Amino acid sequence: MVKGIIEKKPDLSVLSAGWIPPSLVCREGKVETTRKLIREGTLAVIGPSGVGKTTLARMAFPDAIIVDCTLRRRAQSIARYIALSIGIKARRFGDALNAIRKAEARLVVLDDFTLAFRNREMRLLLRALEKHLVVFIAHPSIRYELLEYSILEMPPYSAAELYRILEARAASGRLPVEEEALWEIARLVGWPKGPGSARLALYVLRLCLERTVSEVSASLVARLARKELFHVLNFP
Ligand SMILES: Nc1ncnc2c1ncn2[C@@H]1O[C@H](COP(=O)(O)OP(=O)(O)OP(=O)(O)O)[C@@H](O)[C@H]1O
Ligand SMILES: [Mg+2]
Repeated sequence: MVKGIIEKKPDLSVLSAGWIPPSLVCREGKVETTRKLIREGTLAVIGPSGVGKTTLARMAFPDAIIVDCTLRRRAQSIARYIALSIGIKARRFGDALNAIRKAEARLVVLDDFTLAFRNREMRLLLRALEKHLVVFIAHPSIRYELLEYSILEMPPYSAAELYRILEARAASGRLPVEEEALWEIARLVGWPKGPGSARLALYVLRLCLERTVSEVSASLVARLARKELFHVLNFP
Protein backbone atom coordinates (compact mmCIF):
# COMPACT_ATOMS: atom_id res chain seq x y z
CA MET A 1 0.00 0.00 0.00
CA VAL A 2 1.34 3.44 -0.89
CA LYS A 3 2.11 5.41 2.26
CA GLY A 4 -0.51 8.03 3.03
CA ILE A 5 -3.25 6.40 0.95
CA ILE A 6 -5.91 4.66 2.99
CA GLU A 7 -6.97 1.52 1.16
CA LYS A 8 -10.72 1.14 1.36
CA LYS A 9 -11.73 -2.38 2.27
CA PRO A 10 -14.78 -4.18 0.90
CA ASP A 11 -17.84 -3.53 3.03
CA LEU A 12 -19.93 -6.71 3.19
CA SER A 13 -22.59 -5.00 5.32
CA VAL A 14 -24.16 -3.76 2.04
CA LEU A 15 -25.39 -7.34 1.60
CA SER A 16 -27.09 -7.56 4.99
CA ALA A 17 -30.88 -7.47 5.30
CA GLY A 18 -30.81 -4.22 7.27
CA TRP A 19 -28.86 -2.21 4.67
CA ILE A 20 -31.17 0.24 2.93
CA PRO A 21 -30.13 1.01 -0.67
CA PRO A 22 -30.01 4.71 -1.65
CA SER A 23 -32.53 4.04 -4.44
CA LEU A 24 -34.81 1.33 -5.74
CA VAL A 25 -32.72 0.37 -8.76
CA CYS A 26 -34.77 -0.07 -11.99
CA ARG A 27 -37.91 0.96 -10.10
CA GLU A 28 -37.10 4.51 -8.97
CA GLY A 29 -40.39 5.77 -10.45
CA LYS A 30 -42.44 3.42 -8.28
CA VAL A 31 -41.63 5.46 -5.16
CA GLU A 32 -43.40 8.51 -6.58
CA THR A 33 -46.23 6.39 -8.04
CA THR A 34 -46.82 4.86 -4.59
CA ARG A 35 -47.06 8.32 -3.01
CA LYS A 36 -49.50 9.42 -5.70
CA LEU A 37 -51.71 6.32 -5.43
CA ILE A 38 -52.11 6.54 -1.66
CA ARG A 39 -53.68 10.01 -2.10
CA GLU A 40 -56.56 8.24 -3.86
CA GLY A 41 -57.16 5.85 -0.95
CA THR A 42 -56.19 2.41 0.29
CA LEU A 43 -53.39 0.81 -1.70
CA ALA A 44 -52.21 -2.77 -2.14
CA VAL A 45 -48.59 -3.43 -3.15
CA ILE A 46 -48.51 -6.91 -4.61
CA GLY A 47 -45.58 -9.08 -5.58
CA PRO A 48 -43.65 -12.26 -4.80
CA SER A 49 -40.94 -12.54 -2.15
CA GLY A 50 -37.78 -10.45 -2.33
CA VAL A 51 -38.81 -7.95 -5.02
CA GLY A 52 -38.48 -4.78 -2.94
CA LYS A 53 -42.03 -4.28 -1.59
CA THR A 54 -40.96 -3.45 1.97
CA THR A 55 -38.06 -1.34 0.72
CA LEU A 56 -40.44 0.59 -1.55
CA ALA A 57 -42.85 1.29 1.35
CA ARG A 58 -40.01 2.46 3.61
CA MET A 59 -38.70 4.78 0.89
CA ALA A 60 -42.10 6.17 -0.05
CA PHE A 61 -43.38 6.60 3.50
CA PRO A 62 -40.56 7.11 5.99
CA ASP A 63 -42.99 8.39 8.66
CA ALA A 64 -45.56 5.61 8.32
CA ILE A 65 -46.47 3.14 11.04
CA ILE A 66 -45.15 -0.08 9.54
CA VAL A 67 -46.58 -3.28 11.01
CA ASP A 68 -44.66 -6.46 10.29
CA CYS A 69 -47.41 -9.09 10.06
CA THR A 70 -44.85 -11.91 10.13
CA LEU A 71 -44.33 -10.94 13.79
CA ARG A 72 -47.87 -9.74 14.54
CA ARG A 73 -50.41 -11.95 12.87
CA ARG A 74 -53.48 -11.41 15.03
CA ALA A 75 -55.68 -8.32 14.70
CA GLN A 76 -55.46 -7.81 18.48
CA SER A 77 -51.68 -7.65 18.41
CA ILE A 78 -51.63 -5.42 15.30
CA ALA A 79 -54.18 -3.05 16.88
CA ARG A 80 -52.16 -2.79 20.11
CA TYR A 81 -49.02 -2.04 18.10
CA ILE A 82 -50.72 0.70 16.05
CA ALA A 83 -52.23 2.21 19.22
CA LEU A 84 -48.80 2.18 20.87
CA SER A 85 -47.28 3.86 17.82
CA ILE A 86 -49.75 6.73 18.22
CA GLY A 87 -48.94 6.94 21.93
CA ILE A 88 -51.76 4.93 23.51
CA LYS A 89 -51.03 1.86 25.62
CA ALA A 90 -54.16 -0.27 25.25
CA ARG A 91 -54.37 -3.75 26.73
CA ARG A 92 -57.84 -4.65 25.49
CA PHE A 93 -58.65 -5.01 21.78
CA GLY A 94 -61.67 -2.71 22.09
CA ASP A 95 -59.55 0.02 23.74
CA ALA A 96 -56.94 -0.24 20.98
CA LEU A 97 -59.67 0.06 18.31
CA ASN A 98 -61.12 3.14 20.06
CA ALA A 99 -57.69 4.74 20.24
CA ILE A 100 -57.15 4.08 16.52
CA ARG A 101 -60.59 5.50 15.64
CA LYS A 102 -59.99 8.69 17.64
CA ALA A 103 -56.38 9.32 16.56
CA GLU A 104 -55.31 11.83 13.94
CA ALA A 105 -55.09 10.27 10.47
CA ARG A 106 -51.83 8.39 9.96
CA LEU A 107 -50.38 6.23 7.23
CA VAL A 108 -50.34 2.57 8.26
CA VAL A 109 -48.48 -0.09 6.28
CA LEU A 110 -49.60 -3.67 6.92
CA ASP A 111 -46.49 -5.44 5.66
CA ASP A 112 -46.70 -9.14 4.74
CA PHE A 113 -50.46 -8.99 5.20
CA THR A 114 -50.62 -12.44 3.57
CA LEU A 115 -49.50 -13.90 6.90
CA ALA A 116 -52.03 -12.03 9.06
CA PHE A 117 -55.13 -13.85 10.30
CA ARG A 118 -57.83 -12.33 8.16
CA ASN A 119 -60.80 -13.09 10.42
CA ARG A 120 -63.69 -11.20 12.09
CA GLU A 121 -61.35 -9.26 14.40
CA MET A 122 -59.28 -8.20 11.41
CA ARG A 123 -62.42 -6.84 9.76
CA LEU A 124 -63.11 -4.81 12.92
CA LEU A 125 -59.56 -3.47 12.86
CA LEU A 126 -59.79 -2.53 9.17
CA ARG A 127 -63.04 -0.69 9.89
CA ALA A 128 -61.35 1.20 12.75
CA LEU A 129 -58.60 2.16 10.30
CA GLU A 130 -61.08 3.70 7.84
CA LYS A 131 -60.07 7.32 8.43
CA HIS A 132 -56.38 6.46 8.18
CA LEU A 133 -54.41 5.75 5.01
CA VAL A 134 -53.65 2.06 4.69
CA VAL A 135 -51.12 0.27 2.50
CA PHE A 136 -51.38 -3.52 2.30
CA ILE A 137 -48.26 -5.36 1.22
CA ALA A 138 -49.10 -8.82 0.02
CA HIS A 139 -48.17 -11.87 -1.97
CA PRO A 140 -50.08 -12.44 -5.26
CA SER A 141 -51.84 -15.45 -3.65
CA ILE A 142 -54.27 -13.09 -1.84
CA ARG A 143 -54.68 -10.58 -4.67
CA TYR A 144 -58.39 -11.46 -4.98
CA GLU A 145 -58.96 -10.21 -1.40
CA LEU A 146 -57.57 -6.78 -2.27
CA LEU A 147 -59.18 -6.10 -5.64
CA GLU A 148 -61.32 -3.23 -4.30
CA TYR A 149 -58.19 -1.12 -3.69
CA SER A 150 -55.68 0.53 -6.04
CA ILE A 151 -53.03 -2.05 -6.86
CA LEU A 152 -49.35 -1.43 -7.43
CA GLU A 153 -47.58 -4.41 -8.95
CA MET A 154 -44.05 -5.37 -7.95
CA PRO A 155 -43.21 -8.13 -10.43
CA PRO A 156 -40.19 -10.42 -10.18
CA TYR A 157 -36.94 -9.00 -11.60
CA SER A 158 -35.52 -10.05 -14.95
CA ALA A 159 -31.85 -11.05 -15.22
CA ALA A 160 -30.98 -7.61 -16.65
CA GLU A 161 -32.68 -5.85 -13.71
CA LEU A 162 -30.98 -8.10 -11.15
CA TYR A 163 -27.66 -7.39 -12.81
CA ARG A 164 -28.16 -3.65 -12.26
CA ILE A 165 -29.19 -4.20 -8.62
CA LEU A 166 -26.13 -6.39 -7.97
CA GLU A 167 -23.84 -3.97 -9.81
CA ALA A 168 -25.07 -1.03 -7.68
CA ARG A 169 -24.65 -3.06 -4.48
CA ALA A 170 -21.16 -4.24 -5.44
CA ALA A 171 -20.16 -0.63 -6.16
CA SER A 172 -21.56 0.59 -2.82
CA GLY A 173 -19.58 -2.03 -0.92
CA ARG A 174 -16.46 -1.98 -3.16
CA LEU A 175 -16.96 -5.75 -3.44
CA PRO A 176 -14.31 -7.81 -5.25
CA VAL A 177 -16.47 -9.40 -7.90
CA GLU A 178 -16.13 -9.80 -11.65
CA GLU A 179 -18.78 -8.31 -13.92
CA GLU A 180 -19.31 -11.76 -15.51
CA ALA A 181 -19.94 -13.25 -12.04
CA LEU A 182 -22.73 -10.73 -11.45
CA TRP A 183 -24.25 -11.72 -14.79
CA GLU A 184 -23.98 -15.38 -13.84
CA ILE A 185 -25.95 -14.77 -10.61
CA ALA A 186 -28.47 -12.54 -12.40
CA ARG A 187 -29.10 -15.22 -15.03
CA LEU A 188 -29.54 -17.95 -12.38
CA VAL A 189 -31.99 -15.96 -10.27
CA GLY A 190 -33.66 -13.74 -12.90
CA TRP A 191 -37.27 -14.28 -13.90
CA PRO A 192 -38.56 -16.41 -15.64
CA LYS A 193 -35.75 -18.97 -15.29
CA GLY A 194 -35.43 -18.21 -11.57
CA PRO A 195 -37.77 -16.59 -9.02
CA GLY A 196 -36.64 -13.01 -9.81
CA SER A 197 -35.90 -12.20 -6.16
CA ALA A 198 -33.36 -9.47 -5.40
CA ARG A 199 -33.00 -10.90 -1.89
CA LEU A 200 -31.98 -14.28 -3.30
CA ALA A 201 -29.53 -12.71 -5.79
CA LEU A 202 -27.89 -10.69 -2.98
CA TYR A 203 -27.76 -13.80 -0.80
CA VAL A 204 -26.01 -15.76 -3.56
CA LEU A 205 -23.48 -12.96 -3.98
CA ARG A 206 -22.77 -12.96 -0.23
CA LEU A 207 -22.31 -16.72 -0.21
CA CYS A 208 -19.85 -16.49 -3.12
CA LEU A 209 -17.86 -13.79 -1.32
CA GLU A 210 -17.69 -15.97 1.78
CA ARG A 211 -16.34 -18.88 -0.28
CA THR A 212 -13.35 -17.12 -1.83
CA VAL A 213 -10.27 -15.24 -0.72
CA SER A 214 -9.91 -13.45 -4.05
CA GLU A 215 -12.35 -11.95 -6.54
CA VAL A 216 -15.69 -13.72 -7.13
CA SER A 217 -15.51 -15.17 -10.64
CA ALA A 218 -18.22 -16.47 -12.95
CA SER A 219 -16.76 -19.98 -12.68
CA LEU A 220 -17.01 -19.88 -8.87
CA VAL A 221 -20.68 -18.87 -9.13
CA ALA A 222 -21.34 -21.68 -11.63
CA ARG A 223 -19.54 -24.24 -9.41
CA LEU A 224 -21.46 -23.18 -6.27
CA ALA A 225 -24.71 -23.11 -8.21
CA ARG A 226 -24.20 -26.75 -9.17
CA LYS A 227 -23.33 -27.84 -5.61
CA GLU A 228 -24.16 -25.69 -2.58
CA LEU A 229 -26.73 -23.42 -4.18
CA PHE A 230 -28.66 -26.05 -6.03
CA HIS A 231 -31.39 -26.39 -3.39
CA VAL A 232 -31.63 -22.66 -2.70
CA LEU A 233 -31.98 -21.81 -6.39
CA ASN A 234 -34.61 -24.46 -6.95
CA PHE A 235 -36.64 -23.35 -3.98
CA PRO A 236 -40.08 -22.41 -5.35
N1 LIG B 1 -34.85 -2.34 -6.83
C1 LIG B 1 -34.01 -2.63 -5.85
N2 LIG B 1 -32.83 -1.94 -5.72
C2 LIG B 1 -31.98 -2.24 -4.73
N3 LIG B 1 -32.19 -3.20 -3.81
C3 LIG B 1 -33.33 -3.92 -3.88
C4 LIG B 1 -34.29 -3.65 -4.90
N4 LIG B 1 -35.33 -4.50 -4.72
C5 LIG B 1 -35.03 -5.25 -3.66
N5 LIG B 1 -33.83 -4.91 -3.15
C6 LIG B 1 -33.16 -5.53 -2.01
O1 LIG B 1 -33.61 -6.87 -1.95
C7 LIG B 1 -33.86 -7.28 -0.62
C8 LIG B 1 -35.32 -7.70 -0.48
O2 LIG B 1 -36.16 -6.55 -0.60
P1 LIG B 1 -37.50 -6.43 0.26
O3 LIG B 1 -37.28 -6.95 1.64
O4 LIG B 1 -37.98 -5.03 0.14
O5 LIG B 1 -38.43 -7.43 -0.55
P2 LIG B 1 -39.97 -7.82 -0.27
O6 LIG B 1 -40.65 -7.75 -1.59
O7 LIG B 1 -40.51 -7.00 0.83
O8 LIG B 1 -39.83 -9.36 0.17
P3 LIG B 1 -40.83 -10.23 1.11
O9 LIG B 1 -42.10 -10.44 0.34
O10 LIG B 1 -40.10 -11.54 1.30
O11 LIG B 1 -41.03 -9.48 2.39
C9 LIG B 1 -33.47 -6.10 0.26
O12 LIG B 1 -32.15 -6.30 0.72
C10 LIG B 1 -33.53 -4.89 -0.67
O13 LIG B 1 -32.59 -3.92 -0.31
MG1 LIG C 1 -41.10 -7.54 2.76
